[in-house]
Amino acid sequence: MIVPRLTLSNGVTIPAMGLGTYPMHDEATAAVASGLELGYRLIDTAEAYGNEEQVGRGIAASRVPRDQIFITTKFNRAWHSVDGVRQAAQASMRRLGVDYLDMLLIHWPNPGLGRYVEAFEGLLRLLDEGIIKAAGTSNFKPAHLARLHTATGMLPQVNQINLNPWAQRADTVAYHRRHQILTESWSPIRPAALLSDPVILAVAKDHDATPAQVVLRWHTQHGYLPIPKSASPARQAENLASWDLELSEADMAVIDDLDRGEDQVTDSDVYGH
Ligand SMILES: NC(=O)c1ccc[n+]([C@@H]2O[C@H](COP(=O)([O-])OP(=O)(O)OC[C@H]3O[C@@H](n4cnc5c(N)ncnc54)[C@H](OP(=O)(O)O)[C@@H]3O)[C@@H](O)[C@H]2O)c1
Repeated sequence: MIVPRLTLSNGVTIPAMGLGTYPMHDEATAAVASGLELGYRLIDTAEAYGNEEQVGRGIAASRVPRDQIFITTKFNRAWHSVDGVRQAAQASMRRLGVDYLDMLLIHWPNPGLGRYVEAFEGLLRLLDEGIIKAAGTSNFKPAHLARLHTATGMLPQVNQINLNPWAQRADTVAYHRRHQILTESWSPIRPAALLSDPVILAVAKDHDATPAQVVLRWHTQHGYLPIPKSASPARQAENLASWDLELSEADMAVIDDLDRGEDQVTDSDVYGH
């Protein structure tokens, strides 16, 4: 199956589930090629993962045309300036072997550095020039997003955050909903113990599905865009088949009750690279 698409606030369409690539290195080439053959159309990488070349080789090796693949990458704090973002984009495009990016993201806000507004201004210029189709942030809290809005009058189309049933990020998700920002979930099926939570196991048993499929369908039924990573074609296919599931309102409600709060995630006011 080919993953269905969502529409971003700027009218660009984006696949509703993607393939994560961290922490893959040489194995990323085969994993990306198999993911694309199976039906993934969004690939998530980053400068920090050190695998953009391997990911680019996987894209080139697949038979899927470039214009059907949504390539997303992220840059580190060293590039938090208007010109720095342009250089970061050019370096990523060179490593990936492509001449445009579908989405470029500020990987972490690094508020201690205090330059994420400049980085966002750099993204907006690339968007105007068509070098990127969407401007993304990652690990931004509502206060960081609000600062972008005040300074530029604009917001990203996507904010990629650590989100799973144990860490549901209610405040951030509510801000996204109010401002038409798509929520993209990183580590959507982690930590590993989440997949043996008794509630997830019970829902999986009812649907004759796997725990990972239940968690991924919970994300997509909420309208979140999960980017599960798997190096294994069998698990990539298993994760794609989550689209065949239909969770009931009651299933969604019992999973919604699993939230353990914001201290499940890394504090992006403190950590960043
Ligand atoms: N923006 C950020 O700061 C940030 C931070 C971290 C990650 N990310 C992105 O988000 C992506 C996903 O996050 P993640 O890789 O940390 O976590 P994840 O995708 O939630 O989980 C990946 C782990 O789950 C295993 N797995 C995959 N499918 C499975 C299945 N069906 N059943 C059981 N286990 C399964 C994988 O192992 P196998 O490979 O052996 O299948 C791997 O160990 C990353 O790859 C990266 O692209 C972004």
